[in-house]
Amino acid sequence: MKSLSLDEAAKKIKKLREQIKYFEKKYYVDNDPQISDYEFDLLVKELEKFESQFPELIIPESPTQRVGEQPLEGFVSVEHRSPMLSLDNCYSVEELREFEERIKKIIPSQKIEYVAELKIDGLGISAIYRRGKYSLAVTRGDGFRGDNVTPNVKTIRSFPLEIDDNREIEVRGEIYLPFESFKKINKERAEKGEPLFANPRNAAAGSLRLLDPKEVASRRLDVFLYSIFLQGKEQESQWQNLKALKELGFKTNPYSRLCSSLEEVISFWEEWYKQRDSLDYDVDGVVIKANSTQQRNLLGSTAKFPRWAISFKFPARQATTKIKNIIIQVGRTGALTPVAILEPVKLSGITITRSTLHNEDEIKKKDIRVGDYVLIERSGDVIPKVVSVIKGRRTGKEAKFTFPSKCHVCHSSTFKPEGEAISRCSNLSCPARLRESLFHFASRRAMNIEGLGEALLDQLLEKRLVKKIPDLYSLKFEDLAGLERMGPKSSQNLLDEIENSKQRDAARLIYALGIRYVGERTAQVLAAHFKSIDALAGASFEELTQIEDVGPKVAESIIFFFKQPENIELLRKLKEAGLNFSIKEEKEREKPLAGQIFVLTGKLTTLTREEAEEIIERLGGKVSYSVSQRTNYVIIGESPGSKLVRARTLGVSALEEKEFLKLIGKD
Ligand code: IVH
Repeated sequence: MKSLSLDEAAKKIKKLREQIKYFEKKYYVDNDPQISDYEFDLLVKELEKFESQFPELIIPESPTQRVGEQPLEGFVSVEHRSPMLSLDNCYSVEELREFEERIKKIIPSQKIEYVAELKIDGLGISAIYRRGKYSLAVTRGDGFRGDNVTPNVKTIRSFPLEIDDNREIEVRGEIYLPFESFKKINKERAEKGEPLFANPRNAAAGSLRLLDPKEVASRRLDVFLYSIFLQGKEQESQWQNLKALKELGFKTNPYSRLCSSLEEVISFWEEWYKQRDSLDYDVDGVVIKANSTQQRNLLGSTAKFPRWAISFKFPARQATTKIKNIIIQVGRTGALTPVAILEPVKLSGITITRSTLHNEDEIKKKDIRVGDYVLIERSGDVIPKVVSVIKGRRTGKEAKFTFPSKCHVCHSSTFKPEGEAISRCSNLSCPARLRESLFHFASRRAMNIEGLGEALLDQLLEKRLVKKIPDLYSLKFEDLAGLERMGPKSSQNLLDEIENSKQRDAARLIYALGIRYVGERTAQVLAAHFKSIDALAGASFEELTQIEDVGPKVAESIIFFFKQPENIELLRKLKEAGLNFSIKEEKEREKPLAGQIFVLTGKLTTLTREEAEEIIERLGGKVSYSVSQRTNYVIIGESPGSKLVRARTLGVSALEEKEFLKLIGKD
């Protein structure tokens, strides 16, 4: 390959970039993947190889250059070319009609068409392309000035780095975090003992403000564009704007609708109010825009809002209720989490009885007291949060909460590591920690001991049948059969399950040990690298930090774990019980769903969504979150969403839950 001339390399590189750009757009913008991730990665690797041999050919628009090497030092404030106005809100059909009346007063006797768009709950962004190249991205900020976040926005793969138009072009839209990415980020933060983000919007905002573009890239932000300003030429309508955006390769929301009357707008709003939960991102209403540019110009703006647009909000998933008590939960890492016990209240269909308060600082910051009335909120499918205290309803009887300095379960002292917001119980054998550790150990993604649920674990702990994790492996039939709601059959099933768990692979066992900062993925990386738990236990700091994905914090935590006499004893006993400590050359497992892409919509009755996803992946299939021509099956649960509609349009096979269960051999 060295023998390639610069010219030849340039040709090869150009071709690879074109291919990658095409597949990237198909995947990230059109939701219509054309090749597997593996094949895509091969193309990128090949391009990287050529570019490293001919660094003089690297250009900022190369797909390999999305993630900048250098962390930023801070953000520079930039003035917008024209203010990024916000939108007036309305909350009822009457108010929406008043909006139309206001328009009709200014431009009487004209027919008004509208574009109805989903209002994405994210962050406004403006991006500028010069001579066809991505050159600047600025947050909305206060509407007049925002932060220059060019390198961060560049990591969003649905943003084209080059467009086929040499004019200076500004596009505006909304950056958001899909629910899946939000859950993943919070899961990782929980595993690391870091404070969680309250909702996807906050997580998106936090991600956009990270100084290291590499970290931003790992957050999987996404974008929908809705405005375009072409130098010199104005499009004649919003519908044309959206079309122009699409044609240039920008990602626009697929559900926008051209409406010929306000009645059609109202139907659009009603449809989406019902099915907003079927989307994998949060929407908080519908934005209604007069379609014609000429009419827009006649209508103009007030100081704050355009007169040609309004946002018709969905009712918030908010409610008020009273805090009956604040309790402390002890997690398996010893983290003490305050939880508010609430007077039960209904919020978009579910009854809420508790809400996490995260940590001591959060309680202080919001000045939350026992007896307070609080505003709680659910965004999308996210767990409820206390938004604020309704101070006007205080009677003076509310009690301030003092964070305990001792663990209420084992009475050991607590400590708060420097720079962390979370207090921890210092006792490694705290019974509350043991309970959570056992629960984690048996969980589906760890040792997957089916049937060992919370209620049963509590009985085993209470009867002192299990005092340490390895005791699970010496449980006898008589021990179990004597417990509440345990017949002979379920006792034998559980014993079989426990026995089977000995064969789980070493990666699962590493994860099941609950080492701080070692999540599922890190456990897999460690197992693949060390091939045995004994080798991992003897690894040095240097050896560990040489592994990609293992930073100093993780390495220290692993070394600390394997140094503790209690953990050495734990491992000895697990080995003695016959658990799998090394990676056996795995036989190619049966993968009947290999190569098949599935999309789930609606609620399944016999499986949770996570369970269904795990089964599909275990059998070699892939789960995608949007329907495209490449989707093989859409699995329909109760009240399926728009994905089913799209599947029908594209002619993708739809499977009822029963048929799906049959396919996976669970009928
Ligand atoms: S149009 C002058 N369209 O909502 C009109 N905004 O409260 C500017 N937003 O700042 C906005 N989805 O960040 C528009 N389809 C959509 C939107 C949208 C979300 C955000 C945007 C704006 C805020 C206004």
